[in-house]
Amino acid sequence: MKIYKTKDYDAMSLKAATILASQITLKPDSVLGLATGSSPVGMYKKLVEWYQTGNLDFSQIMSVNLDEYRGLSPDNEQSYRYFMNTHLFDHVNIRKECTHVPDGLTENPDQACEDYEALIESLGGVDIQVLGMGHNGHIGFNEPCSEFAKITHCVDLAPSTIEANKRFFESEADVPRQAYSMGIGTIMKAKKILLIVSGADKAETLYRALTGPVTPEVPASILQFHKEVYVVADEAAMSCFK
Ligand code: F6R
Repeated sequence: MKIYKTKDYDAMSLKAATILASQITLKPDSVLGLATGSSPVGMYKKLVEWYQTGNLDFSQIMSVNLDEYRGLSPDNEQSYRYFMNTHLFDHVNIRKECTHVPDGLTENPDQACEDYEALIESLGGVDIQVLGMGHNGHIGFNEPCSEFAKITHCVDLAPSTIEANKRFFESEADVPRQAYSMGIGTIMKAKKILLIVSGADKAETLYRALTGPVTPEVPASILQFHKEVYVVADEAAMSCFK
């Protein structure tokens, strides 16, 4: 595991964008595993800038997203498909048909989850998986629980996640209670992992995740077992590390 401590959110975003841009440059047909939320917004902004200045090419890139809210359609502004379109896909030359986000409206969740796993396999697996981390240590929507979920599945969101994510909705009541998420097993199969974390409010959880026991009660702790993880975290998030 390689940990990069940066001064602040902007420096974190720049460093994370550099790692992703290196991947794209070295392997132009990479399969990127992507995340939503506040953590990667600055990173996506940088990647868009570098595309616009002719320094990055997404024409052969494929992508799979970690998760999607159950019940939200792609054109719902709170959906993760909408987020990806507006923060990245609409601004670079990625082929939309090569971008994949779990279908929030599927009528057959079990089959759709199995199909998502098969899709990732058929693309040759994820070359680099971007992750943010929830305040409770979740990655994707793998919430703290008694055992690690292996594959893409439907999850009940933890009350703390509903609370944390209500800022994106008009009210807490509007936050979907369920989501589809890659499992921990799916995430761990990625060849590389890029975890980005910012803010003092995640410092204690980050410390537990990277130095404490590996337990499904802190889902991000599983990353200690992955062979190639890059953690990019700002000073505030790293404040529990001496
Ligand atoms: C998003 C995702 C979540 C977020 C996490 C952190 O696709 O899978 O695990 O990465 O909730 O969210 P932010 O970055 O908004 O603090």
